[in-house]
Amino acid sequence: MHKRLTMDRIPVAGPWITQKEIDYVSDAVSNAWYSNANFYQKQFEKAFAEYLGVKYAVSLPSCTSAIHLSLLALGIGKGDEVIVPDITWIATSAPITYVGAIPVFADIDENTWCLSAQSFEKCITSKTKAVIPVDLYGNMPDMNAIKSIAKKHNIGIIEDAAEAIGSEYRGKKAGSFGDTGVFSFHGSKTLTTGEGGMLVTNREDIYKRVLFLRDHGRQPGDKLFCNTEVAYKYKMSSLQAALGLAQLERIDELIERKRDIFGWYHSELENLKGIRLNFEPPQTKNTYWMITVIIDKILGLKKEELMAKMDSKNIDCRPFFYPLSSLPAYKHFNGIKKAKQQNIVSYEISPYGINLPSALSVTQDQIISVCNSLKEIVI
Ligand SMILES: Cc1ncc(COP(=O)(O)O)c(C=O)c1O
Repeated sequence: MHKRLTMDRIPVAGPWITQKEIDYVSDAVSNAWYSNANFYQKQFEKAFAEYLGVKYAVSLPSCTSAIHLSLLALGIGKGDEVIVPDITWIATSAPITYVGAIPVFADIDENTWCLSAQSFEKCITSKTKAVIPVDLYGNMPDMNAIKSIAKKHNIGIIEDAAEAIGSEYRGKKAGSFGDTGVFSFHGSKTLTTGEGGMLVTNREDIYKRVLFLRDHGRQPGDKLFCNTEVAYKYKMSSLQAALGLAQLERIDELIERKRDIFGWYHSELENLKGIRLNFEPPQTKNTYWMITVIIDKILGLKKEELMAKMDSKNIDCRPFFYPLSSLPAYKHFNGIKKAKQQNIVSYEISPYGINLPSALSVTQDQIISVCNSLKEIVI
């Protein structure tokens, strides 16, 4: 880069890049052409499936496209309902609209901040075809309960593990619980390819359908330029796959650093009254993509005000997600009024939460200074 950006702010999210990543990308740009054009995608997909303990992994340009293809592969379309937690990034729910289906917003659990199994079951109707539980900020919902409800009602599961690479529930990796699991490698994520995503599955029928849909309606090896359906062009480039492979080979240290960052916050803030941090349920490994603080409502400090105060100290934060049912984008959708009344936990927590600096580049000294600022503001 000719001119580096100055890093005087403490960043909320960002990657950890080493010489290994630079070497792999250099190799891809020099050599991944001609008969080697798909070398890095194949290596990355194989290593990713092995890491997760699943049969198939398909590299894609984003997690959003992975959700879109999951819905299509499950045969979800016009008039079908798909249940999502009210608290997540809109990328979880937007693809439901792409396929003509209807998003239904369920409440979250007050400890994990992930989909509440109880609320999920309450939202089921005769039109429900799928649920998209989200492993929010690296945590995991009660997957056993969600899976058994989905099985009872014959509902497909797309596990949105965009924020949770390496997290575990009862010893099983995030992303491996549903009919499909989806990941994001956006620049803010623990494992990054700049932009990028992965769809994983154990179902051969879904794998084959996804390969077909992501390449303009043709199976690998089909007669050239003879497409049998109008579909999509959703592919990851070699350069991204090379970066992803290098990051995956370092995944244990990336996750360990995230858990260390959480530990630094925890030891600074554990005695501060009126706040709480991310929760790690028993039998879950939380990979703490975003270290998040919820301020007790009694203190009367809303997230926008808290963020403005942190901003004035050059500390980069993000708001806890707004409930999707509160967004202008969903104002005219059916069922919004009901979601607003029913999703009590989402509406109770969201106004008082912020994501604290959680970039892989932050130092313990920076975290101590963030915590000192937070203490000054809160006390
Ligand atoms: C929970 C969740 N789902 C989906 C996505 C979408 O990922 P992408 O930006 O790779 O499409 C994100 C990304 O921020 C996310 O946090």
